[in-house]
This record gives sequence, structure tokens and C-alpha cells, in this order.
Amino acid sequence: MAWDWRSLAVLAVIFTCKTVHGQLDPEIVDEIIPEISSQGGQAKLNCTVVNKQSGHTVHWTFMNSYSGGEVISNDQSIYIKNPECKEASKKYEVIVNKFNQRETYMLVINCLELVDYGYYKCYIQIRGDSSESWPSKIGYLVVQVPPTITSKNVAVMQMDVGQSVNLSCEASGVPRPNITWVRSDGNLLPGGIGALWNSTVLELKNVSINDRGLYKCVADNQVRPPDVYLVGLQVFFKPETHAVQNTVGQAQNRQFEAKLECRVSGYPEPEVVWFREPTKTSGQLQMEQLNDNAKYDITKQIATTTLRFQESWYTLRIKNVEANDYTKYYCVAQNRIGRNDTTMIELFETMECQGANCPTYEGQGASAISVSFLVTIAMVTVAKMFL
Ligand SMILES: *[C@@H]1O[C@H](CO)[C@@H](O)[C@H](O)[C@H]1NC(C)=O
Ligand SMILES: *[C@@H]1O[C@H](CO)[C@@H](O)[C@H](O)[C@H]1NC(C)=O
Ligand SMILES: *[C@@H]1O[C@H](CO)[C@@H](O)[C@H](O)[C@H]1NC(C)=O
Ligand SMILES: *[C@@H]1O[C@H](CO)[C@@H](O)[C@H](O)[C@H]1NC(C)=O
Ligand SMILES: *[C@@H]1O[C@H](CO)[C@@H](O)[C@H](O)[C@H]1NC(C)=O
Ligand SMILES: *[C@@H]1O[C@H](CO)[C@@H](O)[C@H](O)[C@H]1NC(C)=O
Repeated sequence: MAWDWRSLAVLAVIFTCKTVHGQLDPEIVDEIIPEISSQGGQAKLNCTVVNKQSGHTVHWTFMNSYSGGEVISNDQSIYIKNPECKEASKKYEVIVNKFNQRETYMLVINCLELVDYGYYKCYIQIRGDSSESWPSKIGYLVVQVPPTITSKNVAVMQMDVGQSVNLSCEASGVPRPNITWVRSDGNLLPGGIGALWNSTVLELKNVSINDRGLYKCVADNQVRPPDVYLVGLQVFFKPETHAVQNTVGQAQNRQFEAKLECRVSGYPEPEVVWFREPTKTSGQLQMEQLNDNAKYDITKQIATTTLRFQESWYTLRIKNVEANDYTKYYCVAQNRIGRNDTTMIELFETMECQGANCPTYEGQGASAISVSFLVTIAMVTVAKMFL
């Protein structure tokens, strides 16, 4: 039989694949699948080898840039410092699974930190061979970090009308978080930029009263949870007053009370006082300032979610309405920027009790309540028609 050069080449290949003992060379089969895990979590990298014999050891190395490579493991034992990082779990662990000729050396890294981010090399050390000939494969670990807003400097800004300010929202995180500015009340952002602004710095130029409110920055990189930063923008302005209802009705001399309500905004927080116009029978000529006493109950309800930022709700209750109470009432608000005395609420006489606190009579029960409720709705409707 004649040997041609092709058969010789095949034989040469077969021989080079065998060791001197006639065994197949160890090999790392399969690529190492890259792992993406969150900070604090766990990562697993698989190195699957075949034809591993005695004299062969499987190692994992962390290829950090500063030391070039740090050997983590030798087969199943851990080489480097391996502190306990969580109850009953060490930082590193190698779990070996054998299946026929395949052996998987799974490197488990617990309590992930950003410093664990990088390349991990698996290699088979062959005793007697130079390290250049050792089989190796490289895996990649991405440690994701949820966003943290780092520029949470000022929570409330105070400004004059016409001033400008830059609201800043710098965030760290892996991957780099997306920044979104919105207004908490759902209004559009100032300056015609729409409802959203996707940039670290939100520039507010020439602020107006309407720009006041809560601004919200959300830093999101899809790694839970996103971080949120709220900035309140307060703009100094003269008080504005609004009557909740311009007219209020009540029947007299039956221990009924009347409730007058005024919404007040302004910054700094205005002082609010109630006045009444004198009636012909009162014998007074000047506006009378009302105090919280047996006749009047003056209360302030601080901004609830239904009220706008920096708005308060003032209530004047006139107890035991009498003929002398039917007149005009003023809700007057003042701060260092100015005074507003234009809001007037008129109390007028009705035949029946008005409002939610009307008594129900024996035998009438629920129907009396619903009648008074309907009357209230009618009153509101009528009042609105005159606005
Ligand atoms: C790694 O190997 C283990 C055991 O062989 C297996 O259960 C797991 O699914 C493997 N993981 C990956 C990402 O291949
Ligand atoms: C806001 O930032 C812009 C752009 O960086 C700059 O031109 C402007 O002067 C800044 N405004 C204020 C009030 O700092
Ligand atoms: C701005 O951010 C929001 C939320 O992250 C996103 O839905 C939107 O597509 C972004 N817009 C632009 C122009 O990048
Ligand atoms: C600032 O805004 C007001 C209205 O809110 C406008 O009249 C004025 O011209 C603006 N000033 C500048 C410098 O843009
Ligand atoms: C940032 O936003 C863009 C556009 O909405 C999106 O394609 C990208 O995936 C986001 N990046 C992160 C890290 O969430
Ligand atoms: C008081 O506030 C109302 C409502 O905002 C406004 O229309 C009115 O001009 C203000 N009056 C004064 C004197 O400022």
C-alpha cells in the first residue's frame, strides 16, 4: 500500500491530538455565556471541559486591569481570600458537575459588587506543559447597579418672578441611567418643552407664577428600583384669592350656620383675615374684621392633594345665622409682596336650611338629608351660572 501525502497529513493530525499516553487532549468546549446580574446578586459562569485527566487542573482567573489576572480557583478549591458575604454563603464557590466526559466548573460569585464587573478566564493547567499551550476561554460578567441620583442638593428653591435657574439631576448607575424631568402635577414644563425633558439639566428661564410647583426627576436604567428626586420651586408672588362660592344662602334664627370658603395662594405664605361689610342695622360704618370667637369659626386647611402647590383653603363659619349676618364678606390676604382684598362672598337669606349640616326631623329621616343635599347642588349650579 502506497502512502500518499494526504494520508500522512491525516495521521499527523491524529498523532498531534494525542498525548504521549495515547489520550485525547483536554479541551474547553462551549463558549462561556456572558452573565448579567444586579449588584448584591449572584453570577454564574460555566466552564465545560472534556478529557480532563490527573495532572490537569481547571482554574478561574479574574482578569482585572491592575494586576493582569488573579487566580480565583484550582478545581473546586478557592485560592483567593474568600470571605463570607451573606449568611452561609461565601463570596466565591466552584461547583463541579460531571456528565459523561463533560465536566462543568461553575464559578459562582455572590454579593456582587461593581468591582466584580469584567472578564473571567477559565484555563486548564497541564502539568509539564508550558502555560502558552494551556486551553483557555474567556467569559464576561456585567454587574448592573440601580440608579442613584447624586445631585440631590436643594429640595426647595425660592425665586422671584423673572429669575432663571437650572435644576440638575446627575445620576450614577450601570448602565448609565436615562434622566426624565416631569412636573408632579402633570402640567407641561415651562418654556414650551412639553411634558418630558430627557436631560440632566432642566433650565427654567424667566420663571413665572405658573411655573411654581413640584418638579420630579426620574433616573431609570431598567435595573430596579429607579431613583426619584423632587424639587419644589417656590416663586415669590402677591396673594391671589378665589371664592369657592360667591354666594352662600342660609335661613335665619334657627341655629343654622353658614360656611364661606376662600382659596388663597401667594408666597411667602399670606396672612388671611376676614372682613364684613356693615349692615344698615348694625350701626357700624366701617368694615369689621372678624375674629375666631363664639360667633365666627375661622379655620385654615393646608394644601391637600386637590389643592395646587402653595394654596390654602380658608373657611369662615358664621354660627347661628341671624338677620344682621346677611351682608358681604371679604377674604383678604396679604404678604410682603402685596395685598388682595377683591374676593367677596355674599350671604343671603333662604327659607330652608342649606348645606350638609342641616338637621333631619323625626319621621323624615333620609329624605330630609337628600332634599337638603339637592338644594345644595342647585345652589352651586346657580352660583356657577353667575360666575
Ligand atoms: C451551567 O452549568 C450548570 C450545571 O451543569 C447548569 O445547570 C446551568 O444551566 C449552566 N448555566 C449556563 C448559563 O450555561
Ligand atoms: C443654566 O445652564 C445654561 C447652559 O449650561 C447656562 O447657559 C445658564 O447660564 C445656566 N443658568 C443659570 C441660572 O445658572
Ligand atoms: C424620554 O424618556 C422617556 C422615559 O424614559 C422615554 O419614554 C422617551 O422616549 C424619552 N424621549 C426621548 C426624546 O429620548
Ligand atoms: C419674561 O416673561 C414675561 C411674561 O411672563 C415676559 O413679559 C417677559 O418679556 C419675559 N422676559 C424675558 C427676558 O424673556
Ligand atoms: C434610555 O432611553 C432610550 C430611549 O427611550 C432607550 O432606548 C434606552 O434603552 C434607555 N436606556 C436605559 C439604560 O434604560
Ligand atoms: C386678587 O386675586 C384674584 C384672583 O387671582 C385676581 O384676579 C385679582 O386681580 C387680585 N387682586 C389684587 C388686588 O391683586
